[in-house]
Amino acid sequence: MKIAVLPGDGIGPEVIAQAIKVLNALAKDGLKIEIEQAPIGGAAYDASGDPLPDATLKLARAADAVLMGAVGGIRYDTLPREVRPEQGLLRIRKELGVFANLRPAILYPELVNASTLKAEFVSGLDILIIRELTGDVYFGKPRGRRTTNGGEKEGFDTMMYSESEIARIAHIGFKVAMKRDKKLCSVDKANVLDTSMLWREVVSGIGKEYPQVALSHMLVDSAAMQLVRRPKQFDVILTGNLFGDILSDEASMLTGSIGMLPSASLDEKNKGLYEPIHGSAPDIAGKNLANPLATILSVAMMLRYTLGKESIAKRVEDAVKNVLQQGFRTGDIAASGEQIIGTNEMGDAVVNAL
Ligand code: IPM
Ligand code: MG
Repeated sequence: MKIAVLPGDGIGPEVIAQAIKVLNALAKDGLKIEIEQAPIGGAAYDASGDPLPDATLKLARAADAVLMGAVGGIRYDTLPREVRPEQGLLRIRKELGVFANLRPAILYPELVNASTLKAEFVSGLDILIIRELTGDVYFGKPRGRRTTNGGEKEGFDTMMYSESEIARIAHIGFKVAMKRDKKLCSVDKANVLDTSMLWREVVSGIGKEYPQVALSHMLVDSAAMQLVRRPKQFDVILTGNLFGDILSDEASMLTGSIGMLPSASLDEKNKGLYEPIHGSAPDIAGKNLANPLATILSVAMMLRYTLGKESIAKRVEDAVKNVLQQGFRTGDIAASGEQIIGTNEMGDAVVNAL
């Protein structure tokens, strides 16, 4: 199995290095994998002027699965949109057709005090956010800037979903819900947006094919509020690209840290792009401070969803639980007074636990 590894920028290379240690440990135990690395984002822009060079895309297409770190950096913030690091990420998602983004937010019992919410509200939390990833205002056209007749600048984007785009992500939502608590909450803004009105109609229609799943609808503002008010009411949340981006960052804080949340982005055939949901964190990059667990847990998701190795996926997740039980903490998940270890040491601890 070929794995394309794209470290990216900021803390990306550091957390990816820990994931590679884990993969190498599994390879020693007989997992047959080949790893090849390529640049993406700012690193690729620096090397070739393109945040997603052809060679990187080619490698990603040829691989069975893609593992990514993070992209972006302060240095690139003034570049034109087309060559910004984020465009490399958005383009690879689009080119690979990975429309189904699964973002599990699980609270590990050891981290109950790392959450900013009271323990009683978050203990036992296990939510799965399914975010549509290749449509919506992220990709809608037209978009851009123009100057009005009065000489004023305007920026504009197009929020848009087709029936078929909504239908295919809805099917994923219902299928995943069937394997969990059979509860699906679809999140939209159907009291204002046409895009959302269609979303709600299509999701409701498809819901008829899954009579065992209890489908509910929630407006995104209300969902944002309910997520911190009573998060355990949710099991699977199904939503569009923009709302999913925002709600998954919010949900991450219920679990103690955004440094704990992995993600899988799948195409129709379960080929996947795997990445932590966090960004490149330029402020802590290169300092051995970042939490590598989200990336390591993304490896577990890769083993489960694309490589079909459920028992090895469990082994990696159990190793992560084990290091947390042993009390290993990076700064983001440490309660006051707890001893803090670095990115590298956390990677080593997981390998030892394996
Ligand atoms: C994410 C990130 C990206 C997104 C950025 C870096 C383009 O925030 O994966 O959630 O908005 O999708
Ligand atoms: Mg985001």
